[in-house]
Amino acid sequence: MTGEEVLGERHESKVVVVTGGAGVIGSRFVRAIADSGDIPVVADIDMMAATQLVDSLAPEQAARACAAHLDITSKDSITALISEVTGRYGRVDAVVNNAYPRNRNYGRKLEDVTYTDFCENVDSHLGGYFLVAQQFCLAFRAQGGGNVVNMSSIYGVMAPRFEVYAGTEMTMPVEYAAIKSGVIHLTRYFAQYFKGAGIRVNCLSPGGILAGQPSGFLDAYKERCASKGMIDPGDVVGALLFLLSDASRYITGQNLVVDDGFSL
Ligand SMILES: NC(=O)c1ccc[n+]([C@@H]2O[C@H](COP(=O)([O-])OP(=O)(O)OC[C@H]3O[C@@H](n4cnc5c(N)ncnc54)[C@H](O)[C@@H]3O)[C@@H](O)[C@H]2O)c1
Repeated sequence: MTGEEVLGERHESKVVVVTGGAGVIGSRFVRAIADSGDIPVVADIDMMAATQLVDSLAPEQAARACAAHLDITSKDSITALISEVTGRYGRVDAVVNNAYPRNRNYGRKLEDVTYTDFCENVDSHLGGYFLVAQQFCLAFRAQGGGNVVNMSSIYGVMAPRFEVYAGTEMTMPVEYAAIKSGVIHLTRYFAQYFKGAGIRVNCLSPGGILAGQPSGFLDAYKERCASKGMIDPGDVVGALLFLLSDASRYITGQNLVVDDGFSL
């Protein structure tokens, strides 16, 4: 088999919507999608950041890409986005369900999480991922196919290692465990439901992303990893491009963990 056969012969650029595309991981994904010759749509509730990101791409990439306003908790906003993208490009090939809504009390320790806060965060994040996947899969079915990549986390797979947070203000929020494990199983549900419609649905679960965390925490985390410890957004790019590509054409309903072995 030639490399081209393995990676899939490229015919035309794919149109890939990245929700939360202006954020830390999303913006790295957008650059990688543009660098690989595909067309990223930066769909974010922060339109200014989305526009700035598109403007910062290489001129020929920026001319093809676009920024679009999206609120993943609004069905009208999602359907308007799908209409805008299909109107502009004639189709939409993939969506990366990557936005990260949270309310202002998100991230508290378990003792301090109220029922309202728990429900608000699960509603906006897990509910928003459901709504994006639902509306895109319906559009994909109507156009004859499509590809969904849902962003989960190692904390959707494993119980938290609370000891790595000792001595810091950080924790692994209880809402996040419910949300991210839910995203992994929603992935299986959608993959099963849309079998035969040319639609693949997979999940990507990164480990912790480096973002200036305290050194004690980073050391404790790294001790449980194979080499690097916390990873950079760029370390997740290869897995994303694989799931978006034809190289993964017979993979659906799966969760790909990229965590330098932390969850082992
Ligand atoms: N950062 C990590 O350590 C880490 C690790 C594993 C998985 N993840 C997952 O990766 C994804 C991206 O995380 P990140 O760290 O880049 O987050 P981030 O906060 O840097 O970016 C999230 C983006 O989502 C946008 N957003 C928020 N609410 C929205 C809404 N209602 N509709 C549309 N857009 C909205 C924000 O404006 C922002 O641009 C999330 O699913 C997160 O759970 C993150």
